[in-house]
Amino acid sequence: MIQDAAGKQDDKPLPEILRERLPRSLFTHRVYHVPVLGSTNSRAKELAKRGEAEGTLVIAEKQTEGRGRLGRQWHSPAGVNLLFSVLFRPPLSIDRVFSLTMLVAASLVDAIHAMSGLNALIKWPNDIYCRGKKMAGVLTEFSTEGRAIEYVVVGTGLNVNWDLCDQPELQHSATSLINELGYPVSRVALLSCFLELLEKNYRLILMGKDAFVRDQWNRFSMVIGRDVLIDPEGEKKKATVTGIDRNGALLIEEEGGRASSLVCGDVQVLFPSLPGNRG
Ligand code: BTN
Repeated sequence: MIQDAAGKQDDKPLPEILRERLPRSLFTHRVYHVPVLGSTNSRAKELAKRGEAEGTLVIAEKQTEGRGRLGRQWHSPAGVNLLFSVLFRPPLSIDRVFSLTMLVAASLVDAIHAMSGLNALIKWPNDIYCRGKKMAGVLTEFSTEGRAIEYVVVGTGLNVNWDLCDQPELQHSATSLINELGYPVSRVALLSCFLELLEKNYRLILMGKDAFVRDQWNRFSMVIGRDVLIDPEGEKKKATVTGIDRNGALLIEEEGGRASSLVCGDVQVLFPSLPGNRG
């Protein structure tokens, strides 16, 4: 359990600190740390359009227009959580774009475990849960050139040292590392650990060895083998999740045995695992 500098004023993930920890990292050569920003994803996309290189990292202490999937907002107080976006320019075709969501989610769960011992889980496609409550969300946005990917921005909001006990509207559905552990965690150490794992896993994907990342995702998944409701806010179809493919699509077996896959959308787990249970 690493607690260095946790909760202190100087626990800011500043470019020079990240570079000192990870001097040769793909993700520390171009780091923007901004006190207040509309959205790190929007800033990273602007930078991408201006030709910024792969690996660019945009971090904000606070966002005024933090976005989630499906038009949702992402709320976070200033200076306690991790709000950041990573710019990728993978030489992959467009159907592989969500493998980067898978990459970020698996690397996040791995980093959370390495830093805290907590067994967080991935709820397809982009949520990280811990003991039944959401701890982080991942937002993937991209631009294409024909069938090729021009850039992908993957944004992460991770609740680290935000005490949600005084947030009546959120405390039953959201959690943070400090709420699960009872003590603060260094944002610098956690982000560094994540970036290290992210680079290792990204290089595997680029080498075509993406099965490792997929296996990791499956191991950390809270939906594999479970009954789920597809499109819980709309049509509501019941299915059993059988896996995930190399593009990040969810493989399901519908009632009646028909096998199909889900590229986007939402699922609701019908019989969630016990709190803290990984499998
Ligand atoms: C979700 O749960 O739907 C995804 C939430 C993603 C939030 C992060 S915070 C950093 C980055 N910038 C944004 O505007 N959104 C993502």
